[in-house]
Amino acid sequence: MHQPSLLEIFKHPKTQKYLQRSGVVHAIASSFHAYKLSSQYGVDPILACKAALLHDIGHYTWYRDGKWDYEQYKANDIHAIKGAERAHKLLIELGEEREHAKAISLAILLHTDSYLPGGQLELNPLQKVVRLADEADEEPEGLHHYREISYDKAIELIKKLDSMLEGKEMPNPLQQTS
Ligand SMILES: [Fe+2]
Repeated sequence: MHQPSLLEIFKHPKTQKYLQRSGVVHAIASSFHAYKLSSQYGVDPILACKAALLHDIGHYTWYRDGKWDYEQYKANDIHAIKGAERAHKLLIELGEEREHAKAISLAILLHTDSYLPGGQLELNPLQKVVRLADEADEEPEGLHHYREISYDKAIELIKKLDSMLEGKEMPNPLQQTS
């Protein structure tokens, strides 16, 4: 079955629309972190990179008087829930296998617990990698969402990741994610 590349996912108009809100640089940087972390945690790097690239696709713009309202955001944000749904829809549309789309979507749902009631979540290795990849690129007060990059440079980096991933698929990528 056809598996969409990172480039196909990145170029999709919905990815472009939503990543403009949460930051293209943060998405790509998280994806590079996920690539590195995936071998450490024994998870499929392709799933990890796709999930990290899309992990913040659910962000809403929390503006008040032209400025980002961080307090409002912290109190009312559900970007992980929206992101999991958006990513799943997008991946299915691009022909991603259903099992993969679900694993990626769940990793996005659980990449932060800031919207969940207190308690301990038990994350599987893929979910852990995506959470750590996001944290590795975080800056205080959400500044990591504002770094800028040209479209051409972003495409160049995504292509680089795609070629790093070529031939890297693990024999049973879902072993670690079920
Ligand atoms: Fe993030």
